[in-house]
Parts: sequence; C-alpha cells; structure tokens
Amino acid sequence: MVANIFDTHAHYHDRQFDEDRETLLAELPSAGIFRVVNCGTDGPTSQICCDYADRYDYIYAACGVHPHDCSHESADWLDRIKALCAHPKCVAVGEIGLDYHYDFSPREMQRDFFERQLILAKELDLPVIIHDREAHADTWELLKQYAPKGVVHCFSGSVEMARDVVKLGMYIGLGGAVTFKNAKKPVEVAKYVPEDRLLLETDCPYMSPVPFRGRRCDSRLIAHTAAFIADLRGVETQDLIDQSTKNANRLFALSESH
Ligand code: NI
Repeated sequence: MVANIFDTHAHYHDRQFDEDRETLLAELPSAGIFRVVNCGTDGPTSQICCDYADRYDYIYAACGVHPHDCSHESADWLDRIKALCAHPKCVAVGEIGLDYHYDFSPREMQRDFFERQLILAKELDLPVIIHDREAHADTWELLKQYAPKGVVHCFSGSVEMARDVVKLGMYIGLGGAVTFKNAKKPVEVAKYVPEDRLLLETDCPYMSPVPFRGRRCDSRLIAHTAAFIADLRGVETQDLIDQSTKNANRLFALSESH
C-alpha cells in the first residue's frame, strides 16, 4: 500500500458525501492520506472548508468563488472570501478560474471574478488554485498578467501551455482525467511536467481514475492515478507520491510533518 498522499484538490463538502462523510474523513489518514486541501466554490462552501480544517488535523482549506458560481454570489462576496482567507489553515485562494464549457456564469463576469481573486491572492500572498476548462487563451492572458503562485488544477492544456505555466513558476495538478481512454494531451503533459512541479489531486467526488471511472471518487484513489503516471514516467509509484507531496508542501508553505 502506498502512503504519504497529498490530495491537493478535493470537495468533501459535496452532497455525494452526505451519507458517510464523518466515517470517511476519519478513515483517510489510516489509508495513506497525509494531507488534503478542500476547495470551496463559493462563499458558503468556503466557510465549510474552514470548518473542516478546524475539525481535522490533516485537512486544509482553499477559499474562493468558482466560475460556475459567480452569478449567485452576494454583492459583498469579495470581502467574505477575504475574511475566510484569514483562517490559519486557509492555504490558497481557490477554486477560481474560467469555464467556457458549461458557461454557467456569463464569461465577462467569470473574468471579473477571476481577476479580482488573482489580485486578492497577491495582496494576501497566497497561492491560487485555478480551474481552466476550454478557456486556455483567456486563462493564460490573466496568468501572464498577474504571475501568481499556484497550480492549474486538472490541467487540460497542451504541453506548450504547461511549459509556459511552469516557466511562470506555477505547478501542474493532475488527477483521474489522465487515466481516461481519450486523454491524449494530459498523458503528454504527465510525461513532460518537471518532477518538482507536479501535484496529485482528485477533484473528488468527481474524476475517479480508471478502473473506477463514473463512481464516487475519494483521496484514496490517488494511488491509482499515481501508479498510472509513475508508469508513464518510468518511476516508482511511491517515489512519485513522495515528490508530489514535497511539491505541495512547498507551494502551500506547510512543514514536512503535521
Ligand atoms: Ni474542483
């Protein structure tokens, strides 16, 4: 069994965990999970992320407004996120970014929310956790402009974009999507990413790796994603996990142990 897994992107507040959340979260550390960053997607879920961080030693929070959720935020959203980011275990502003696949919020509004949160992260000296779905050009424009610390999660861009992101000093987050049958670009990216810039993640309850695709995901399934990526790179699975945990500790300014 592998150990020392740092899941850099989870959503344990999702209602898919309502039935067994307590049991599951109590179990994860003994199943090889070292740390988890639970990412908020709006004001209320960011508050829940901070509550989990209070209750569980190994859980940290990211607070932010996801592009899906911009249109239902209250007028004082930025002040609320800023206040939550002051939580001692809030390690990032996230999940923020652009989603032109679903377009649940108008694009102009998505860009406005994204930009304001990039500025907030700079002001607070926190890394950002970026969501970019079918919005590579606009995402890159804003990243180039603000050069934040952070990670592009569930990276779906080209190797060329990955190279630019790495050059900017950022990290590449890889999860279950790398293992999907049609995943050509993510596989190339998984081979390319410099070892000191690779982060492992789930995006649970979504994005279960093969052979669990379509089922509810949790942090333990990173073992499968890591084995797949390690195989692509010709390294040992535990070594890949250890390296990516080291990277996550560095990015989120956490010590090597609890
Ligand atoms: Ni997510």
